[in-house]
Amino acid sequence: MTRVIYINGQYRPYDHAFVHAEDRGFQFGDAVYEVIEVAAGKLVDEPRHMARLARSLRELHMSSGPTPAAWALILRETVRRNRVRDGSVYLQVSRGAAPRDFLFPEPGTPLTVVCLARAIDPAPGWATAEKGIRIITRPDPRWARCDIKTVMLLPASLAKEDAKAAGAQEVWFVDQDGYVTEGGSSNAWILTDSGHLVTTPATKAILRGVTRMTVLDCCKQLGVSFEERRFTIDEAKTAREAFITSASNLVMPVSAIDDVPIGNGNGGTVARDIRANFHSLAALT
Ligand code: PDD
Repeated sequence: MTRVIYINGQYRPYDHAFVHAEDRGFQFGDAVYEVIEVAAGKLVDEPRHMARLARSLRELHMSSGPTPAAWALILRETVRRNRVRDGSVYLQVSRGAAPRDFLFPEPGTPLTVVCLARAIDPAPGWATAEKGIRIITRPDPRWARCDIKTVMLLPASLAKEDAKAAGAQEVWFVDQDGYVTEGGSSNAWILTDSGHLVTTPATKAILRGVTRMTVLDCCKQLGVSFEERRFTIDEAKTAREAFITSASNLVMPVSAIDDVPIGNGNGGTVARDIRANFHSLAALT
C-alpha cells in the first residue's frame, strides 16, 4: 500500500510530498502541530486537539485556516487513505512560504497544511506499561510560551537523545527552583503517599496536554483526588507513583527517575488503572 500525505489540498504519495524550501516552518520554526491518537479507527479527543490548534494559531497571529468541517475531513481522509486503525494522525500548520524575513509575510499568504497518519501497534505500549519507563531529568532550557504547541522541538529532541543514551525513555524538565515542568513530549504526574494525584498547573511553562485534561476527567469519574500544583523533583523521587501522559503514550507509569526507583520500581497500579479506563472516558469520534 502506498502511504499518502495531505499537503495543501492534495493527497500525495509519501515520496512526492514536499514543502517549499522557504517555508516559514523550515526557516523559523514558525509552525504549530497536533498529534491525535487513532484507536480502533476513531480519533481520540479530536475536539480538544482542534480547540488547542485553533488557540495555537491565534496566539501566533496566524489565520485560522480551513473550516472546522474541512479540518475534520482532512484528518479522517488521511487516516482512511493510509488504512490506519490504531496509530496517530499528525497535523502541522505553518505560516506558509515567503522570501526569508523575520517579519511576517504579506497577509493572505496561504498557510502550509500537512497531515499524515501512521499505524502503530498498541501491544508494545501495553507491555511497556506493565513495567514502567525510566526517566532522566534535565534543566528546562525552553522558551516562556510552552503552552503554544510549536514545532520548535530541538530542546526536547536533544534531551530525549540524552535520555536514550542513559537507557531511559523520557526526560522531565526541571525549572530553576527545582520544580518539574513537564516531559520532553508529555505531561508529568505523581501520586503522593496520601493518595493524591498531583500534576503541574497549566501555565505558560507547559503544554496543556489533551491527555492530561482527559485524565483529570477520569479522576473525577473514578473518585481519585487530585491537585494541580507544582512539585519538586525531590518530591517526585519519593512519590508512591509517577507517570506521564500524552497522545502517543496515553498514561505511562514511571519505574525510575534518575535511577531512583519509584514505588516498587515496576510502575504503579493507580497509573495502570487510569490507563485501562482512559479510552472509555475519552471522546472517540
Ligand atoms: N507531544 N508536553 C509536551 C511538551 C508535548 O510535546 C506533549 C505532546 C504533551 C502531551 O500533550 P497531549 O496529551 O495533548 O498529547 C505535553 C506529542 C504527542 C508529540 O510531540 O509527539
